[in-house]
This record gives sequence, C-alpha cells and structure tokens, in this order.
Amino acid sequence: MELKEAIRKRRSIRLFDKTKKVTDAQLRELFELTSLSPSAYNLQPWKFIVVRDEKRKGVLRACGNNQAQVEDASAVIIVLAKLNPSEDVDEIISDRDKKGYFPSSEIKQNYIKIMKEIDTNEEIKAWAIKNAYLASATLMLAATDMGLATCPIEGFNPDCVIKNFRIPSNYFPTLLITLGYQLPDAKIPERLARKTFEKTVDFEQFRKKQA
Ligand SMILES: Cc1cc2nc3c(=O)[nH]c(=O)nc-3n(C[C@H](O)[C@H](O)[C@H](O)COP(=O)(O)O)c2cc1C
Repeated sequence: MELKEAIRKRRSIRLFDKTKKVTDAQLRELFELTSLSPSAYNLQPWKFIVVRDEKRKGVLRACGNNQAQVEDASAVIIVLAKLNPSEDVDEIISDRDKKGYFPSSEIKQNYIKIMKEIDTNEEIKAWAIKNAYLASATLMLAATDMGLATCPIEGFNPDCVIKNFRIPSNYFPTLLITLGYQLPDAKIPERLARKTFEKTVDFEQFRKKQA
C-alpha cells in the first residue's frame, strides 16, 4: 500500500472483531515502524504499553469512560510521554557523534547542554506529549498499511491509568490507541467532513479575513 493510500484509508474504528488477534510479529513490525518517527533531538520521549490481557483491558475500559472498543480491540496501546528525557542524552549524543553529525566539539557541547536542560523546562510535559503524538500518528498509519484498525482515545482518566498500570512518575499517559481487526460486517459511517484547503492553508502570512 502506498502511504497516500494508507492516509486516505485510515479511519477511527470503534467496532472490532473480538476473535481476531494481533500477533507478536505484527506488534514488533508496528513498533519498529513507529520508532522511525521524528522527535526533538531524536530524544524519542515516549514509551508504549501493550495491553492484551482481558482483565486488564476491562480495567482500562473503566479508566476510559467505559468505551466498549477498549475491551473489544485485540490490544490497547497506552502511549506514555517521557518527562525526564535528559536521562537518554549520553546514548543519543554518542550515536550522533559516531555518525559525524557534529562539525565541531563546541557545537557538540552546546547540544549536550541544551539537551541536558530539557527536563527543567516547565513546558516539559507539553513538549513530551507533542513528540508522543507524532509517534502515535506514525503508528496509526503503519497499522492501516498492515491491514489493522485503530482509534486514538483521549477520553480517559490518566490518574486511573497511572494507578492501575504501575506508571512511574517520570511518565505521563497521554493517549490510548485501540488496535485490532475491524468487525467484518460493521457499518462504518461516511467519513466526517474535513476543512477545506482554502480554510486551513494561508500563504506567506496569516490572512486577515476568513473567506
Ligand atoms: C486527540 C484525539 C482524541 C480522541 N479521542 C477519542 C475518544 O476518546 N474516543 C473516540 O471514540 N474517538 C476519539 N478520537 C477519534 C476522533 O473522534 C476521530 O479521529 C475524528 O472524529 C475523525 O475521524 P477519523 O479518525 O475516522 O478520520 C480522538 C482523536 C484524537 C486525535
């Protein structure tokens, strides 16, 4: 499938075939593709918990406004934003260094300084969440390409997830993604309208008047 086709095909699917399971090999491929997402400084401030156990999915459903899709999907992915990314700086810098990304040691030292200070930024949570959302978009498109269905879910209680899934304080659960196979006879309603090119795209500067 071409990427353009996957983008056009992806829909938020809420009716899952409970009998069809996503395999370990599929999950591995899905997360390998997801790992290729862009991230600030390549810090990849995310982590994913794949929930497949029926009981645990029940707990997650209760945390997720009782949305049935959470139990019906083969797996639910808890997307976590990492709030202390500076922990990974040495590893990331060493890779970058080995591959000749730093034209001088001064630039390298500057880079390290900025990256090490990232945790102290009061916007760290928002910063980590935007990176995790980009990875989530990649994940959903990759899943579509693999013939799998997904739905992003923001309607859940993070504290409930933190409590029931042993999430440490340096991670924040920012999104759930249901994953599985679409119910074969499910009637998927027509795609919701999208804002037009004219409404959403300006050139050179913000237009004063909306057309
Ligand atoms: C950040 C975010 C949160 C969402 N939360 C929910 C949710 O809690 N439950 C749900 O059923 N769909 C949720 N959705 C799916 C949207 O309703 C859906 O993407 C939108 O209506 C467009 O439909 P489409 O994804 O099929 O193109 C969410 C989507 C996003 C991006």
